[in-house]
Amino acid sequence: MDSRKINGTERTLFTLTQTTSHVTIIVSGGQFGDEGKGKIVSYLARTMKLDAIARAGTGPNAGHTVVHQNKTYKLRLIPSGFFNENAQLFIGAGVLINIETLLKEIKETGVEGRIYVDFQTGVIEQHHIERDRKDDHLKNVVGSTGSGCGPANEDRAKRVLRLARDFEALQPYLTNVSDQLNDIIDNGGEVLIEGSQATHLSLIHGTYPYVTSKDVTASTFAADVGIGPTKVDDVILVFKAFTTRVGTGPLNGELPEEEVKRRGWTEYGTVTGRLRRAAPFDFSLAKKSVRLNGATLLALTKMDIVFPEMAGKRKETDITPEAMDFITKIEDVAGVPIKYISTGPSSEDLIVRAI
Ligand code: GTP
Ligand code: IMP
Ligand code: MG
Repeated sequence: MDSRKINGTERTLFTLTQTTSHVTIIVSGGQFGDEGKGKIVSYLARTMKLDAIARAGTGPNAGHTVVHQNKTYKLRLIPSGFFNENAQLFIGAGVLINIETLLKEIKETGVEGRIYVDFQTGVIEQHHIERDRKDDHLKNVVGSTGSGCGPANEDRAKRVLRLARDFEALQPYLTNVSDQLNDIIDNGGEVLIEGSQATHLSLIHGTYPYVTSKDVTASTFAADVGIGPTKVDDVILVFKAFTTRVGTGPLNGELPEEEVKRRGWTEYGTVTGRLRRAAPFDFSLAKKSVRLNGATLLALTKMDIVFPEMAGKRKETDITPEAMDFITKIEDVAGVPIKYISTGPSSEDLIVRAI
């Protein structure tokens, strides 16, 4: 087995660089969300066979941007790798759905016939959205997305939330996602589990109380879709080359709005349209994320924004010395290699390092 020296220690190389007949991968966010998980998943979906892509995470508070064949999709529930027609698509029991959003996205993406929802997936109803938007604590202190996720998870904890199996409109999509995924894994298939939100928004490990309504690290993503931790081969943790955060809560090294603009780091939320707060990359936050997720590989997005000469680059030999210094510094702190370097919004703008 190959190995490589990182931070002074010899480390074994990972499943993705070996030839395996089957693989189960989790994609997780390392900062405060919006790292570009959608972009990384769309790359993997374009280049891997994939028998299943399963959505984990809180629910439609997420907004994943996928740019595929010059078309931009803003997805809140459908897995970002939907265009891989070999893959069956699943939404796990641990996730919350909004029926209207789900049906709209099924239409937009044309995945009718290969998308399934677990019998026990939680359903957000209008009263959850109203509660989320009217509650002073959720709206003003936490700065929630107003998508009803917090109140729905509150009802789930109270055991009064209605589940997917209780709704007529969802009958054609219902299945036991855990059974399906475990069957695929047992038969040597490839499974990609797509997390949403991110490590430091975790209810358990994040910057409480400025967090989402459940744990959002890799362990919970596996649980969300009903597979055990021993079935996971790789955890790809996604970082953006700078840090952004929407809503309230601490942000180390936060830059004034003018400075964010001057650096060209300005972003707006996919779901709420809110201006994202921004700060330089936080190395100690990254190290915590690697540990909390048990990451085996890292992906680094928006390198073209921090290093403009990297824009659209697709070859390892195109990495500039400045960009390489930054990459090495992250790897030294994290103790895990950066395999994917994203250089633009399209699923094709990516450097895959031979590590
Ligand atoms: P959540 O699950 O809501 O946390 O979202 P996400 O991690 O999928 O990220 P989101 O799509 O909300 O935000 C990332 C933004 O960056 C999107 O507009 C992407 O199109 C864009 N993006 C992703 N990677 C790159 C990149 O390498 N370069 C540039 N310029 N844009 C990128
Ligand atoms: P909620 O999950 O809507 O209750 O929001 C709680 C906090 O998490 C707020 O600060 C939101 O801005 C943030 N949040 C939730 N989901 C996402 C996401 O997908 N990307 C970025 N921030 C998020
Ligand atoms: Mg987003």
